[in-house]
Amino acid sequence: MNFFLKLFKLLSPELAHSFSLNSLKLLHKLNILRLFFKKNYKDENVIFLGMHFKNRLGTAAGLDKNGDYIDALGDLGFGFLEVGTVTPLAQSGNPKPRVFRNYRENSIINRLGFNNKGVDYLVSNLKKKTYKGVLGVNIGANKDSIGNQRINDYLVCLEKVNKYADYITINISSPNTPNLRDLHDSENLSILINAIDKSIKDLDISKPVFLKISPDESDETISNIITHVENSSFSGIIATNTTIDKSMLVNEEIKLIDGGISGEPLMNKSTEKLSYIRSKSKDIKLIGVGGVLSKEDYDKKINAGASLVQVYTGFIIQGPKLINNILNN
Ligand SMILES: Cc1cc2nc3c(=O)[nH]c(=O)nc-3n(C[C@H](O)[C@H](O)[C@H](O)COP(=O)(O)O)c2cc1C
Repeated sequence: MNFFLKLFKLLSPELAHSFSLNSLKLLHKLNILRLFFKKNYKDENVIFLGMHFKNRLGTAAGLDKNGDYIDALGDLGFGFLEVGTVTPLAQSGNPKPRVFRNYRENSIINRLGFNNKGVDYLVSNLKKKTYKGVLGVNIGANKDSIGNQRINDYLVCLEKVNKYADYITINISSPNTPNLRDLHDSENLSILINAIDKSIKDLDISKPVFLKISPDESDETISNIITHVENSSFSGIIATNTTIDKSMLVNEEIKLIDGGISGEPLMNKSTEKLSYIRSKSKDIKLIGVGGVLSKEDYDKKINAGASLVQVYTGFIIQGPKLINNILNN
C-alpha cells in the first residue's frame, strides 16, 4: 500500500484525493476492500447521545463533501462518518490550486472554500447509501449569501438533511468563506442559534446538533460559545476546524500560503481548546478533531474530554493504516 501512497504524492493533492477515494469505492464495489484493509475491529459498543458507535474514531468533514464515498469509507472500520460541508446551492469554491501539502510537518494547508455539489445532491446520496453506521452531516452557508440569507442557508440544509442524518454539524469555522468566522461573535451566534433552535422545534428534530468551532478564538469567545450552546438545543461542540495561525510552522514557504492548516501543527492548539471547554463545562458533549496522527494523539483527545475523535489529514497522509494503529492498540 506504501507504493500507492507514494504514487498519490506525485499527483496534485486534489487529484490524489479523488483518485484514492474513487479507488476505494471501486474496491468496495468489487467487494474486495476487506482483502486490502482489515476492518473487523472489536465493537466497543459506545452509546453516545442515543447513537450506537462500534468505536469512537470517525472521519472529519471535508473528506467526503458530497457523500460520494460513504459506503467505501464505512467499509474501512471507522465508527462513524461525517460528510459535508454542504451548502444549499452547488458552488465551485476558490480557484485552484487551493490544497497544498506540507508533509515535512505532517500537515496540509487548504483554501477550498466549501466546493460542493449542493445539499440536494448530498441527500440523493444519503438515500442510496447502504452503510449502516453513524453518519453526521456537516452544513454551511453559500459564499454569496449575506446577512439573513446566511442564517437561512443553515435552515435550508437542516430541513433537507435531518431525516437522513444521525447528527448534524453547524459549521461556522471554515477560514475559507469570507466572514464566516464572524458567526463566533456573541451577537451573531445568538441569532444563528436562536434560528436553528426554532427550526429544530418547528420540524420536531430529535437528532443531536453540534457546533463546529475554530481553534483561533480567544478563551473569552469560547466561554461565550459554551454558554450559548448550553442554553440551546445543541448537544455539543466539535473542536476544531483548521487554524490560520502559522506561528508553529517551520516551513517558511508554507507560511506564505493563504488557507487553513491541519495535521500535526494543529494538534496542541486544538487539544488545548478541547481541554479549555471541558474545564468550563463538565457536561457539554465534545468531539475532538485536529492533528490526530497516532494512537497517542487519539488518547490525548479522549483525555482532554472528547467522547469521539475525528481524523482527516492523518488519514490522507497515512491511509487506512492510521485506523488500524488507533483501533488495534
Ligand atoms: C482539504 C480539507 C478540506 C476540509 N473541508 C472541511 C469542510 O468542508 N468542512 C469542515 O467542517 N471542515 C473541513 N475541514 C477541516 C477538517 O474537518 C478538520 O477539522 C481539520 O482538518 C483538522 O483535522 P485534521 O488535523 O485531522 O485534518 C477540511 C480540512 C481539509 C484538510
